[in-house]
Amino acid sequence: MKTKLVKASDSVLDEAAEILKNGSIAAIPTETVYGLAANAYDVEAVRSVFRAKGRPQDNPLILHISSTDMLYDIAESVQPLALKLAENFWPGPLTMIFPRKPHVPAETCGGLDTAAVRMPNNAFTLKLIERCGFPIAAPSANTSGLPSPTGAAHVMADMDGKIPLVIDGGECRFGVESTVICFEGEDAVRILRPGAVTPEMLREYAHVAVDSGVLEKTDPSAKVLSPGMKYKHYSPAAEVYILKGDADTVSRFLKTENRNGTGFLGFGDEEIPGNVTVFPYGRTAEEQAENLFASLRAADAAGCTQVYVRMPDTAGLGLAVYNRLLRAAAFRVIEADGGSDAVR
Ligand code: TXA
Ligand code: MG
Repeated sequence: MKTKLVKASDSVLDEAAEILKNGSIAAIPTETVYGLAANAYDVEAVRSVFRAKGRPQDNPLILHISSTDMLYDIAESVQPLALKLAENFWPGPLTMIFPRKPHVPAETCGGLDTAAVRMPNNAFTLKLIERCGFPIAAPSANTSGLPSPTGAAHVMADMDGKIPLVIDGGECRFGVESTVICFEGEDAVRILRPGAVTPEMLREYAHVAVDSGVLEKTDPSAKVLSPGMKYKHYSPAAEVYILKGDADTVSRFLKTENRNGTGFLGFGDEEIPGNVTVFPYGRTAEEQAENLFASLRAADAAGCTQVYVRMPDTAGLGLAVYNRLLRAAAFRVIEADGGSDAVR
């Protein structure tokens, strides 16, 4: 199949909407990462998404909507707290889980009786959903297991030849996927996947629990609240390690041993030996979120065999950065002072 790459503009809305209405799929921009879009109510189209990504069938998709009316078409019930969060965070990087109506296909929702819903904050994609008139199911537009795409070139690297259309909406603003929450009673939520709507932001409206799966390995055989968390994720081909320690200790660590084939994502205050390749990361959680996936992909493209990433601060959006990194690193966290090469 020939994959067409076009810039997001009103003139491609019709073509993109036709493709989705006809049961085919296309990659679309959002403010978090690129999504692989299908009509959420069309089982065959949804199956094509799973196939193109190589995604396990039991990992449910997020339904993207352009109006709260669409939410009522999906959700069996919508509690007042959900409406309040929608008012404050939609359109934006917050995904909420609701009991689903029977007409929402089980295939879209990984066989669960719930549906995850969000309203993305991207002008083109909102218009596209509106024009389609149905919710768009869209997982991140990467091959399952690889880092999520934050630019159209990443989507092309994974999807060229597999889907008819990629819409280039530029670099994604946040660079990490949406916050996923479920409700626990009338005034509490549980974060299943951290994102740019942070625990601190949600605490203004509700009691907030962070699920243990956010920072711990989940047992693949156990029943988990968010099936996505149990799979290998966000990993480049290179081995990723999270490196703890201050700038001096990290600099010393990088200088010892032969570091050929080594990539590094740092805060910018380290001394880097000549044979180590540095990729963009940054000091703030916002910069790190924006750069992380692109830099992991770039490290692969540069032929790095191992990549060391400095341990992020886990406050605010940093929790999302750390959550993605832990999975990219298969939970390998090491001390730069050589205290232990301990795998957590
Ligand atoms: O920012 C985002 O959310 C991006 C853009 C494209 O919108 N999408 C995205 O989709 O990250 P995906 O499929 O890569 O991740 C969806 C996550 C998975 O961890 C999945 O398990 C969880 O949401 N999820 C979806 N439906 C669920 C449900 N009914 N119950 C629990 N978790 C659910
Ligand atoms: Mg994904």
